[in-house]
Amino acid sequence: MKPLIVANWKMNPQNLAQAKQIFNSVKKGLEDVKSAEVVICPPFIYLPTLFDFLSRWIKSQIKLGAQNCFWEEKGAYTGEISLLMLKNFACKYVIIGHSERRGILKETNSMINKKIKAALSFGIKPILCVGEKKEEKQKEKIFVVLKSQVEQGLRKISKKEIENIIFAYEPVWAIGSGNPCSLDESHVVRLLLQKIIAQKYSRQVAQKLQILYGGSVKSSNVNGFIKDAGFQGVLVGGASLDPKEFIEIVKNAS
Ligand code: PGA
Repeated sequence: MKPLIVANWKMNPQNLAQAKQIFNSVKKGLEDVKSAEVVICPPFIYLPTLFDFLSRWIKSQIKLGAQNCFWEEKGAYTGEISLLMLKNFACKYVIIGHSERRGILKETNSMINKKIKAALSFGIKPILCVGEKKEEKQKEKIFVVLKSQVEQGLRKISKKEIENIIFAYEPVWAIGSGNPCSLDESHVVRLLLQKIIAQKYSRQVAQKLQILYGGSVKSSNVNGFIKDAGFQGVLVGGASLDPKEFIEIVKNAS
């Protein structure tokens, strides 16, 4: 399976001209790179333009994704974006439960669960983000935190549906800090995630999981997370806004 490299642009860049520029540079730089699957998750407002660019580019290696979604299809939900709308712009993936949404916007596991179910019902792959905060790590609570995020996030989700969910281990303390999790530690946490899934579903399901690592990924460390720590890809924040660096990340992951 090709590694999956997901760019999470967060609330960047500041204008459409810059978004087009980053997107086009990445697209150009990756024209001959076929050994990784690349997903770009821009702010909602740039999706129509980038979708338009992509539809004119037949050999596209790049797919679009969203950074969030709402669980209802339509109606009186001011400020929200539905999965049906995202589908109109060919979004194949949606990031759900990012720590910035859990923390700043108070998103709960039960909201995350509804979003995952809705994404699955629209055939959009959810990327479920899980990870512990610094204090939780210091108190050796990683397993407990991940277990509750996974169990509550996946409430009433079947064995069959799990195959369409991508997991992202994103230790909160590593995000945007320039201080990624060590390869040994992230490898152990990847195994813990598999254990949690094996307990809830089965060993076979756990073995097939697609788990990404996220948190200060750069071109110089991406290979370790894939080759040594065994992740199936990475979720890249800050470095995905620098086309040159992002292209290197994709190349080095392959
Ligand atoms: P970072 O962000 O690569 O800037 O650490 C990762 C993320 O939040 O997904």
